[in-house]
Amino acid sequence: MNLFGFLAKIPLLNRLSLRTKLVSSFLFVVIVGGVLSSLIGTKLVADTIILQARNKVKYDLSTAWLVYNQSLNRIRDVVQLTASGRTIPDYLESGRIKKLEEFLSNRRKEFGLDILTLTDAKGKVILRTHHPFQKGDDRSSDPIIQKALKGQPAAFTAIVSQEELQQEGSDLAERAFIITLPTPKAKEPAAGQETSGMMLKAAAPVLDDSGRILGVLYGGTLLNRNYQIVDQVRSLLYGEGRYKDKDMGTATIFQGGVRISTNVLNEKGDRAIGTRISEEVFEAVVQQGQLWLDRAFVVKDWYITAYEPIRDITGSTVGILYVGMLESPYIDLRNKVVYSFFGIGVLGVLLVLLLSFFITTGIIRPLREMVSATRKIAEGGDLSLDLSISSQDEIGRLAESFNHMLIRLKQARQELEDYGRTLEEKVEQRSAQLKRIQSQLMQSEKLASLGRLASGVAHEINSPLTGILTFSHLLMRKLKDNPELQKELELIVRETNRVSIIVRGLLDFARESKPQKRPCNINELILHTLTLIERQSVFQNIRIMKNLDPQIPMILVDTNQIQQVFLNILLNAADAMPAGGALNFTTFLVSGDSFMQIKITDTGCGIPEKNLNQIFDPFFTTKADKKGTGLGLAVSYGIIDRHRGQIEVQSEEGKGTTFIIKLPLNATEDVSPL
Ligand SMILES: Nc1ncnc2c1ncn2[C@@H]1O[C@H](COP(=O)(O)OP(=O)(O)OP(=O)(O)O)[C@@H](O)[C@H]1O
Ligand SMILES: [Mg+2]
Repeated sequence: MNLFGFLAKIPLLNRLSLRTKLVSSFLFVVIVGGVLSSLIGTKLVADTIILQARNKVKYDLSTAWLVYNQSLNRIRDVVQLTASGRTIPDYLESGRIKKLEEFLSNRRKEFGLDILTLTDAKGKVILRTHHPFQKGDDRSSDPIIQKALKGQPAAFTAIVSQEELQQEGSDLAERAFIITLPTPKAKEPAAGQETSGMMLKAAAPVLDDSGRILGVLYGGTLLNRNYQIVDQVRSLLYGEGRYKDKDMGTATIFQGGVRISTNVLNEKGDRAIGTRISEEVFEAVVQQGQLWLDRAFVVKDWYITAYEPIRDITGSTVGILYVGMLESPYIDLRNKVVYSFFGIGVLGVLLVLLLSFFITTGIIRPLREMVSATRKIAEGGDLSLDLSISSQDEIGRLAESFNHMLIRLKQARQELEDYGRTLEEKVEQRSAQLKRIQSQLMQSEKLASLGRLASGVAHEINSPLTGILTFSHLLMRKLKDNPELQKELELIVRETNRVSIIVRGLLDFARESKPQKRPCNINELILHTLTLIERQSVFQNIRIMKNLDPQIPMILVDTNQIQQVFLNILLNAADAMPAGGALNFTTFLVSGDSFMQIKITDTGCGIPEKNLNQIFDPFFTTKADKKGTGLGLAVSYGIIDRHRGQIEVQSEEGKGTTFIIKLPLNATEDVSPL
């Protein structure tokens, strides 16, 4: 299972909305990414800042060494120059000690040395400029002087004992005397005192002309409570600059582990002379002689510090040179960077939140629209919705497909509705057709049984009628001379003829008379029939119109019988329009139909609906006054039926009547029995 599949199975995630899921994923990525990169970035930057600070301190320490060594070299130069000139040997050889003392004393003062002392060739002091009355002591145990006694000038840092300081001048011993103070982190016992001093000391041999050593001149500066070097270092490195009311940097000279010259201030604002170095640094620098480079809590603030051992002539560590740079500007810088990172991170999260909000809105809005549209459609709503989404992405394409689907749905629904409607119409049409067929069937059934009855009656009547007529004619011939009887016999013959016509009509209706079919142009037959009736008085007020389709083919019909049908219908129409009107003859073909149609329309009185089913019945007539027989349409029906055709009527009372005759286009010779 892939990750998405797995996530999709977590029920809580499933319940969240798409927007929440998208936004939270964005946020997750941004927050995790942001936090990680901020942490790494901050760490990198902070490390770089701290590294830079450490490098700077290291560099500062070398500057401090320059200053320190410059001081030592200056003493060396003063001592060496003073010793190497001719002045000291001259004064010594001439015994002008007072003058020598004056000369050296001036030299000491001129160059700011604490001591400038001359020994003889064995190291015994013969002249002290700082403490003139103290002489005769042996300084040959001093390794620096020993070196000079061997003819080599030397300049080193040296620890000077209290006893020697006393010899050189009690004020110096006093200056060197320092009470060590309890200091946090320093090695116990905290309290104590420092009586010896630390001195920048140089010695040089005094030679006579032959190069013989006459003595040694040595001079020095006591470092205890001498702030020249440390203040110079500070002003060189940090100027007078202060940061948040704190010294930007400090420098210190330690004797052993005790501050003897410093510009680090204690709680009271005095120089923190007598305070001690922490045990950790003491061990690393003094005991192991290593460089110490780290942050350290110096008296009351954190400093980035560098400590390096100060060595004496033997190479053993006697003190420490220290520079420290206030850490807070760097910490503040680092914090600024961290806060900036944090600020940028927060801003980024907000931006992403905003962006993801817009993006998800862009994605979700069309989806929501689609959901609501789908719901509306499902509830049977309007299909003429149109999602107006202009984006070209997947969502845009989805919306496009959705719109397309709507159009197709709409079409399908329309088609379904149309289909339903046409189905209804078709059902109605079919029902009407069925009804018509049914009534036609009933009609033809009825007429068929009537036909059988009529033909039976006609046959039965026909023979007696023939007898009556034959004997009536015989009687007329025999009674030629009796005009009275002759008249009555003529009446018998006339009425019998009438009966005989009726009987023939009945036989016609019953299809007893077989049609003599031959090819005929129905249009011509119509025109011919019209010429027969046009001149008759009943048609004088009737306008006859013809609309005959010349395409109608020749068909097989009994022309006499069909003409009789036309005549029957025409006479009925004339009867229906006593005051005149219009008569319309139309012939036409219906495509796909195997019948030709003849439509005869009049503008007469019309047929009441109740009579419509009866007009084809034999003897149905509404013309009793005119002695109508009611056989006209019955005979016509029989003729058309025998031609395998159909005759129908449509009528509206007061408006007119239309007879439609359908004749088969491919009629055969045979005749269908009733
Ligand atoms: N065009 C028509 N307009 C109005 N009624 C008609 C029309 N044609 C037929 N009829 C009605 O149909 C009945 C039957 O007609 P049919 O021709 O069979 O008999 P008839 O005309 O009454 O008598 P006959 O035709 O024997 O003189 C008529 O009496 C008449 O009521
Ligand atoms: Mg008639």
